[in-house]
Amino acid sequence: MTDKGTETRREDEPPAWRVLMGYVRPHRWTLLAGALLSLVTSATGLALPLVARGLIENLTADRAISGALLWLTLLVIGNAAVGALGSYVLHRTAESVVLTARRSLTSYLLRLRVSAVDASEPGDLLSRATSDTTLLRAMTTQSLIGLGTGGLTLVATLVLMGVVDLVLLGVTVGVIAVAAVVIGVISPLIHRASKRAQKSVGDMGASLERVLGALRTVKAAGAERREERTVHAAAERSWEASVESAKWSAVAGNVVGLAMQGAFITVLAVGGARVATGAIEIGTLVAFLLYVFYLMAPLQNVVQAVTQYQVGSAAISRMREVWRMPAEPEALSDEPARSPSDEPAALAFEGVRFRYAPELPLVHHGVDFEVPARGMTAFVGPSGAGKTTVFSLIERFYDVSDGGRIMVDGRDILEWDLAELRAAIGYVEQDAPVLSGTLRDNLLFGAPEVSPAGLDETLRTTRLRNLVERLPEGLDTVVGHRGTKLSGGERQRVAIARALLRRPRLLLLDEATSQLDAVNEAALRDTVADIARRTTVLVVAHRLSTVTSADRIVVMEAGRVRAVGTHTELVAANPLYAELAATQFLTEHDAAEAAR
Ligand SMILES: Nc1ncnc2c1ncn2[C@@H]1O[C@H](COP(=O)(O)OP(=O)(O)OP(=O)(O)O)[C@@H](O)[C@H]1O
Ligand SMILES: [Mg+2]
Repeated sequence: MTDKGTETRREDEPPAWRVLMGYVRPHRWTLLAGALLSLVTSATGLALPLVARGLIENLTADRAISGALLWLTLLVIGNAAVGALGSYVLHRTAESVVLTARRSLTSYLLRLRVSAVDASEPGDLLSRATSDTTLLRAMTTQSLIGLGTGGLTLVATLVLMGVVDLVLLGVTVGVIAVAAVVIGVISPLIHRASKRAQKSVGDMGASLERVLGALRTVKAAGAERREERTVHAAAERSWEASVESAKWSAVAGNVVGLAMQGAFITVLAVGGARVATGAIEIGTLVAFLLYVFYLMAPLQNVVQAVTQYQVGSAAISRMREVWRMPAEPEALSDEPARSPSDEPAALAFEGVRFRYAPELPLVHHGVDFEVPARGMTAFVGPSGAGKTTVFSLIERFYDVSDGGRIMVDGRDILEWDLAELRAAIGYVEQDAPVLSGTLRDNLLFGAPEVSPAGLDETLRTTRLRNLVERLPEGLDTVVGHRGTKLSGGERQRVAIARALLRRPRLLLLDEATSQLDAVNEAALRDTVADIARRTTVLVVAHRLSTVTSADRIVVMEAGRVRAVGTHTELVAANPLYAELAATQFLTEHDAAEAAR
């Protein structure tokens, strides 16, 4: 993700305050209630001296004080209780705003197109959903409430000042205006520094994710110190930017103090002159000076609202960058999608031309092939020929970019409902990922409603029963981040079982180049052959045993289909295939050697 570090809002995007209001809207009544409770707290606070005065008067007049004492106690307790409740409600609302933002951002992150995620750092996206959204809390309490209560008090005080003397009000407003200009100049600096600080937090997340995601490689390569420096550098950049933001916030806060001192002196000078000419009474001047003093607190509130707003809007502009990334359409219902039929799917590629990004070269230069319903089709070809890309296109992780179309059941996949299309497919990736969680979570990931009997059956066909029996807590054993507690072959079988449990109409199996021992491989080959009798199976093959049992083989090279046929036909007729068969395929013998 690119970030120039400058204000990047586009014309068609809502300003930060409107984004914030969008998040606040569902909670506006609680927010209002919180603000009212705060006002009530201030009001009861103001009533306290009056009751205290009554109490003292009663004392001196030798009257009973129990009534006033009771009132005073009730008022003190009530004030504390209402104050606590008000503060609780306000902070609760601010947390709800953060929750709303996190929900909407994380939903969006899960719908991002694979191509968008390819072009960004997961650690950075993570920091946008966690750390940036947190900043909305202070933005809600301080900007919204500060501006609301501070602004109201400010206006009320200014009105009262106007009632006392318009000339002196003019003087005061003049001084405040100068301060406002200075703060107006400073606040974009706060915005920019905050954005840089948050960006560095994102960089830190990205570097950490990179290290922790491949900790074994990092350790094996002895790269800890270097990676440590990268992470620390990002943390230090965040520190620098935050310190700069703090510096400008401090300047802004003290500009208010300075302005108030200035206003005090100017009012004293101008007011003194007006008293001398007899334009106003001395009492008016004193009253006015008191108001100048009262102005301080609400002004501080407003300035803090402005500075917090800059910090929050920096976070919002980083969230906005996520919303700008392309995403898949939202699912129409919460129900898990179902494929329109249960029959095995037929598939065809028609002149598919595809590149991963506009600036990258073509990966598919017009790929054509047809796969009838049922049976096993193997894809073979040198590394980088575009075999895995065929599967990514069928799953619509990417859309055909330069012409051609992909048909499933005779219908262009672009016309399919995306969820329905994917519901028809079971996909085993080349590096067979396992997610953290229990083994059961992993197996039922794509089909949570499968019966215990169905699960048991699949465990048997994928030869996972032994593993389950061996594990200390069976299916409920935690397999570690990315399945680190399983062996490579076990991970692969778990991934296959997961895909099979979906009862796919089209099974895509991207065979890994190794990792299955001879016994398991033979068993799995039989399982896949059995499945191929009931459903359509596409397998990217790296093993001789797979291609010999395939009904047809598609030979790919450099983004083109070179030949289609059975193993015997191709060995005889296609030199490229003959060479692949002689050099590239793992035979069962090889696999047995590798397993030893
Ligand atoms: N996400 C991606 N972004 C950009 N280029 C990619 C991406 N994935 C793959 N490529 C490129 O596309 C080409 C085809 O890749 P693909 O993964 O389809 O090859 P393959 O036939 O599956 O190879 P292998 O047998 O090694 O798995 C390669 O040159 C690869 O560098
Ligand atoms: Mg591949």
